[in-house]
Amino acid sequence: MKDLFITKPLSILFKESELAEGGLKRHLSRMNLIFIGVGAVIGAGIFVITGTAAATHAGPSLTLSFALSAIGCGLAGLCYAEFASMIPISGSAYTYSYATMGEFIAWIIGWDLILEYLFGAATVAVGWSGYLISLLESFHIYLPAIISQSPFSYDATGWHTTDALINFPAVFIIAIMTSLLVIGIKQSAKLNNIIVLIKVAIILLFIAFGISYIQVENWIPFIPENTGKIGHFGITGIFAGAGVIFFAYIGFDAISTTSQEALNPKKDLPIGILVSLLICTVLYISVSLVLTGMVSYTELNVPAPIALAIDKAGAGLLWLNPIIKVGAIAGLSSVVLVLLMGQSRIFFTMAKDGLLWKNFTKVHPRFHTPHITTIVTGSVAAFFAGIFPIGLLGEMVSIGTLLAFIIVCIGIIVLRKKNPDAPRGFKTPLVPLVPIAGALVCLLEMCFLPLDTWLRLLGWMAIGLVIYFSYGIKNSHLRSYPDQTLN
Ligand code: ALA
Repeated sequence: MKDLFITKPLSILFKESELAEGGLKRHLSRMNLIFIGVGAVIGAGIFVITGTAAATHAGPSLTLSFALSAIGCGLAGLCYAEFASMIPISGSAYTYSYATMGEFIAWIIGWDLILEYLFGAATVAVGWSGYLISLLESFHIYLPAIISQSPFSYDATGWHTTDALINFPAVFIIAIMTSLLVIGIKQSAKLNNIIVLIKVAIILLFIAFGISYIQVENWIPFIPENTGKIGHFGITGIFAGAGVIFFAYIGFDAISTTSQEALNPKKDLPIGILVSLLICTVLYISVSLVLTGMVSYTELNVPAPIALAIDKAGAGLLWLNPIIKVGAIAGLSSVVLVLLMGQSRIFFTMAKDGLLWKNFTKVHPRFHTPHITTIVTGSVAAFFAGIFPIGLLGEMVSIGTLLAFIIVCIGIIVLRKKNPDAPRGFKTPLVPLVPIAGALVCLLEMCFLPLDTWLRLLGWMAIGLVIYFSYGIKNSHLRSYPDQTLN
């Protein structure tokens, strides 16, 4: 049993980081990392899910939900930052747990991160497809439903089939982004920078022009009265809203998966994580205030709430509508790109440890990218995006990520006990207060997610355990090191 919790010694991790053993190239500057963070974070959460969360959970107090979620992410982000500054290896929370809580927990978190990134990329691809269809429709181009929707829908009464065969645009965007990632991280980072600038610009445009269309009565009452159901407005609605829009913050942790490609990981990773989180928090709170001020929250349960607010503003803002849609399409593309990149790096690191198949460790001789993991990741994400509806995918992502954050927060406390003197570029302040508070806020948000989602998480974990006990545990490189006294 003790063997199950064998930890990977920091000395080995440091050596791996120095040698950058995988053959990955260090190309990413501090600015690139901040852009990767913002690129991964701002996406379907703000462009798609905000409206539903305001209309069904929190009303104008969605602003408070955004602040609450930001607190949970900020606390977890501070823990991520210490780990990232100390263990700059591309496996993110998986690697951190391997060093602190042992292989079994590391496997659980690695499998959980696969859920986050793989399903996250699929979720955002479905959102991308929605905006593309809507943009084409503004030009009177109509894609046949049979190739532009999920063949399944899911609601409180269960699964239903639709008349569609596949969500082709969602598959298409994943195929494009996968190809870019195979070609190279440098090229991908450049494209990402351009897209991030576009998406931040359209969000700023929305805030700047939308502000003068705010009608203060839309904010009254700011916290609508609870309807009698938990999570349906009132104070519990703020918490439920925070659980749902948590999706909007997911992605800043993707920065830590690029450690082996960062020029100065020890300093730049913490800065990248915290600065990108701060930028997104300010933008989200501003957008949700402007949005719920422009339109009554009761009307916001639509796939493109920001576009709706602009339409409602009247002729004065009509010019902004296609710009917002094009910007959203570009913005969602960059999220797909970063999430796919994070996923392939996690696979790569787990395979280098022997816990997943060896082929996943191959690096392309010319492009220097982990092309096999990238293609496998892209194919699986495309499959999910092609057939599953957005709501189902999004909830899976949120619960998986919240669990990962909790484990990272606990990991910092363990790390301080086990390796108090190991050098770190950044130290989480007020340990253990900050990690405990981070874990509790994330747990609270998890508690407000539906029971179905919990059951799916357990199912996913069960599949992971089968793979671990039938393959990982037998092939783990750590177990074959001659000197097991390293712990
Ligand atoms: N945070 C990312 C989004 O909102 C995953 O799309």
